[in-house]
Amino acid sequence: MDNMSFGDTKIAIVGAGPAGIAALKEFRDLGFDVTVFEKRSNVGGVWAWTEDAGSTTALKETKLCNNKYSLVLSDYSLPKDFPWTVSAPELGSYFSSYAKHFDLYRSIHFNKTVTNLKRNHTNQKWQLTFSDAPSNPLSFDKVVWATGGFVKPKSLTFPGQENFKGRILHSSQARNLSAFKDKNVVVLGIGNTAADVANALVQHSAGKIYLSHRRGAKILRPSDAKTGIPSDLELTTGMVPLTWFLQKHCPSVYGRMMDSAIAQNFKDSWGANNPEWGLSQSPSTGDGQHVIVCSQDLVPNIQSGRILSVPGIKSITGASSIDFDDNRTATDIDAIILCIGYDDDMDLVSEAIDRTPVDGAIPPLPSLYMNIFPPAHATSFAHISLTHLLSPQIPGRVLAALALSQIWANRSPLPDAAEMRAWTARHQSWVRARIAKAGPNGNGYQEVDNGEWSRFLHAAAGTGLYEHVG
Ligand SMILES: Cc1cc2nc3c(=O)[nH]c(=O)nc-3n(C[C@H](O)[C@H](O)[C@H](O)COP(=O)(O)OP(=O)(O)OC[C@H]3O[C@@H](n4cnc5c(N)ncnc54)[C@H](O)[C@@H]3O)c2cc1C
Ligand SMILES: NC(=O)c1ccc[n+]([C@@H]2O[C@H](COP(=O)([O-])OP(=O)(O)OC[C@H]3O[C@@H](n4cnc5c(N)ncnc54)[C@H](OP(=O)(O)O)[C@@H]3O)[C@@H](O)[C@H]2O)c1
Repeated sequence: MDNMSFGDTKIAIVGAGPAGIAALKEFRDLGFDVTVFEKRSNVGGVWAWTEDAGSTTALKETKLCNNKYSLVLSDYSLPKDFPWTVSAPELGSYFSSYAKHFDLYRSIHFNKTVTNLKRNHTNQKWQLTFSDAPSNPLSFDKVVWATGGFVKPKSLTFPGQENFKGRILHSSQARNLSAFKDKNVVVLGIGNTAADVANALVQHSAGKIYLSHRRGAKILRPSDAKTGIPSDLELTTGMVPLTWFLQKHCPSVYGRMMDSAIAQNFKDSWGANNPEWGLSQSPSTGDGQHVIVCSQDLVPNIQSGRILSVPGIKSITGASSIDFDDNRTATDIDAIILCIGYDDDMDLVSEAIDRTPVDGAIPPLPSLYMNIFPPAHATSFAHISLTHLLSPQIPGRVLAALALSQIWANRSPLPDAAEMRAWTARHQSWVRARIAKAGPNGNGYQEVDNGEWSRFLHAAAGTGLYEHVG
């Protein structure tokens, strides 16, 4: 089939982050009629810094956890002078120069928030509704969902909160941390965002900085203490599939390997892990599932006393005072920044993606073949922003975009719907078992068997990786 034959197929891509722009380029190259809808005013997703507190954005101070080669989009090299570890603004500028280079901007509608997705009345097309034109939905033959996973900030209320006179804000609303100069701040949580926020508060000369967490975390220095070379470069092409294999087939070996590598990295980087910091209580589920905080500066800032590591918040006891779980008290607190992560945001795609309820507080599991294709709509709907890999996320998004474009251009096959459903059922029971073990410490339904996922997508994308490299 030549490219011209796709000109009548209208595709909508929702989101112009790395996933969305990679998909736009691939589908346009194949001759499809593609339009992207993006709620913010530039490409780059979380890497496109914006004042708008309604969009989740990495801080200007955020550095990528991975080495620079792990974030490249296809067919477009990084600037030669990029440092080993790239900052959020540098990455944002790379994505906009990619979009300029491939003339992508003309196909993107900015400041357009999709608020609804449903089948049209003939059940032949998808209909998208937008916040600024609720009565003018637009119809498309196919929809690519590329909205990222950080859309709905989690909320939290503390006992006694009504007495507090300072600010309580979610990290997604924290933009300019210079506003906290000389202020005393409690940063709640100990994920990667909490580490970034607490370290940035140090840089911006905040007053007292408390890092309040209930479990500690595994902390990894992202680059070698002596050479400055990013640690992930030690993971060779041979080792990565080995870790994937162990994660799937020998989770306890994988867990021990991860625990010991992270503990060794801590020791080599910063010496002993002082029990008073409460960091060493980090959850270890024995199968390698836990949040890993990549931070160059967090432990040195705790060691120097600039950041005070304290337990969870028990209650707010006055206009500016807080009790922690160990009954310690902090007074003169001006702000609490909730770095507590994000909730599931699958409601918007409920017409496309069936979900299987799970017991307890776990959100229902989406029924998606390879975490991308809903079996009932696999030729017209795909979610390419969902999967959380053990390796860097951006190349995974690019690979998903490449594979999807080849599949929808009929150059690579999908299994039939029954086979996709059977795969989905097997996958969900694996994910359910992982969630039962890890609770909130794992990546929930974003997880896949990395080896199987990668092999399927490389074959569909036609990269030849497995044939030529093995
Ligand atoms: C603070 C932070 C730091 C991170 N650091 C790393 C890292 O070091 N390494 C790594 O590999 N990954 C990291 N990640 C993960 C990150 O999600 C990926 O790097 C990458 O941005 C995913 O690309 P995406 O296009 O799927 O999603 P996003 O980058 O989230 O882009 C999604 C886009 O969709 C838009 N959108 C959402 N909803 C709608 C809607 N309803 N209508 C229209 N547009 C919409 C958003 O505005 C956004 O532009 C980090 C994430 C965060 C939040
Ligand atoms: N530089 C980077 O690479 C970088 C920077 C920022 C973010 N990110 C990515 O962005 C995503 C979001 O990260 P995130 O740090 O915002 O969220 P996260 O990884 O979900 O971490 C949330 C933190 O908040 C705590 N928490 C949640 N609910 C809580 C509650 N009710 N009370 C007290 N503590 C609570 C959690 O602790 P418990 O374990 O106790 O629940 C955890 O420490 C992740 O994928 C992350 O890797 C990456």
